[in-house]
Amino acid sequence: MADQDQTPYVDALLEFARSDPGRYNVPGHQGGVGSDEALRLLVGQSGLSDDIPTLIPGIDVGDPNPFEEAQALAAEAWGAKRTWFLVNGASQGNQSMCLALGHMGRTVVAQRNVHSSVIDGMVMAGLMPHFAAPEVDPELGIIHCLTPKALDEALADCPEAAAAIVVSPTYFGAAADVEGLAEVAHRRGVPLVVDEAWGGHLRFHPDLPRDAISSGADLVISSTHKIVGSITQSAMLHLSGDLIEEHVVDRCVSMTESTSPNSLLLGSLDAARRQAAVHGEELLTNTLAVLAEARAELDSMPGLEVIGNRLLERESVSAFDPLRLTIDVRGTGTTGYRVAEKLRETANINVELAADTVIVAVFGMASGLPTRARRLLDGIETTLGELEAERPDELPAFAPPPPWGEPRMTPRDAFLAAQDVVAFDQAEGRIAAEPLATYPPGVPNVLPGEVLTRETLDYIRESVEGGGFVRGATDRGLGTLRVVRES
Ligand SMILES: Cc1ncc(COP(=O)(O)O)c(C=O)c1O
Repeated sequence: MADQDQTPYVDALLEFARSDPGRYNVPGHQGGVGSDEALRLLVGQSGLSDDIPTLIPGIDVGDPNPFEEAQALAAEAWGAKRTWFLVNGASQGNQSMCLALGHMGRTVVAQRNVHSSVIDGMVMAGLMPHFAAPEVDPELGIIHCLTPKALDEALADCPEAAAAIVVSPTYFGAAADVEGLAEVAHRRGVPLVVDEAWGGHLRFHPDLPRDAISSGADLVISSTHKIVGSITQSAMLHLSGDLIEEHVVDRCVSMTESTSPNSLLLGSLDAARRQAAVHGEELLTNTLAVLAEARAELDSMPGLEVIGNRLLERESVSAFDPLRLTIDVRGTGTTGYRVAEKLRETANINVELAADTVIVAVFGMASGLPTRARRLLDGIETTLGELEAERPDELPAFAPPPPWGEPRMTPRDAFLAAQDVVAFDQAEGRIAAEPLATYPPGVPNVLPGEVLTRETLDYIRESVEGGGFVRGATDRGLGTLRVVRES
């Protein structure tokens, strides 16, 4: 085992900056010389000095070099065969992943509510998706996970699939039975890709849901900036096993990446890895204790219930991540949107997510301090007091959606095709060129390449009229839709 208590890449950057190098290369601010005051205030002198370009011997040139050593340490920390540092988020991880799968076949099975970056990756790679439906919570109207049984059925229906793509944990903190999903995928001869954007910290504490690599996943996308604490936009891609070729993934990562990756973002991954590997368990123990108390206090506030063990009653959920405080606000007589808005107005508090029935507050791996929990709890209490005077909001009705329209072309062909803009009500029978997802719950009703059916158009119209909203359409008012031009 390498010594995880080192940060080779960060050290090399700091040493380079300290050596007062003559900077006659990019970036043009050249260590902050003559930078605008606003930039100096924003990033600080050290941020400018440490903004160091690529191809510097002793940093990322040489064999081995500190940059490669930092990625190797991350691979070891997350139990991967190889790890890539990414500077364009888990979104880049998903795009690289789709391009890599494109080398293995044309068709993939995917959980229907994969992140939009997966659909974008399919457009880039020309993949044809065969979708499997995640479980939707009938009470809360939020999306949970995919069951191994649903994945098995989808793979049986689609024997030509080259891989299976799932999401775990969810935005709301529900974790799938990834071991069961991996077992199903491997039995059917395909690799399992897990978008673990929300689970970079899972590996570092025994009381958290088991992480995807330990559960048998082959390729894992991690949005390290979300919970583990690197800088926004930095992420990692982890490869395990031999079902997906390493050099293909490597090429796909470089295809989706700037040739000038930012050293501060990359360095933040090296530092966040050290913190997680060396101090993660202790930090998480403290955070979990603080959040256990916070949960109990929130549960005692009238109208609130923190969703935790209740999630485990759902078939697709095998564990939940307690770093997410997913709070059911239905008992307050108002929506999660209104609670979140009021929380911002009255207490200057921002939560990660609001939906009709819930708000979700997120804690970082190391940020669960009693004072921070206190601020949130006091803010929520005050906000609830103020909301009491308001008229209750009507919750939108949530009816099960109709089946997805027939896929007639790949998302790529629909994206690149000549397109028409047609009146929403005239779109029946046309092939969609843009996605449409009604909230609640946010599972896409239509994806590019699928036929727009009367039933789906009516469903979307009715859910908007009933207080829901739709994401994905260029015309947010839904007067028109973009469709593929008929030849
Ligand atoms: C499941 C999932 N995958 C991928 C992403 C994209 O992550 P990033 O913002 O790091 O690009 C997100 C972002 O919220 C996500 O929720």
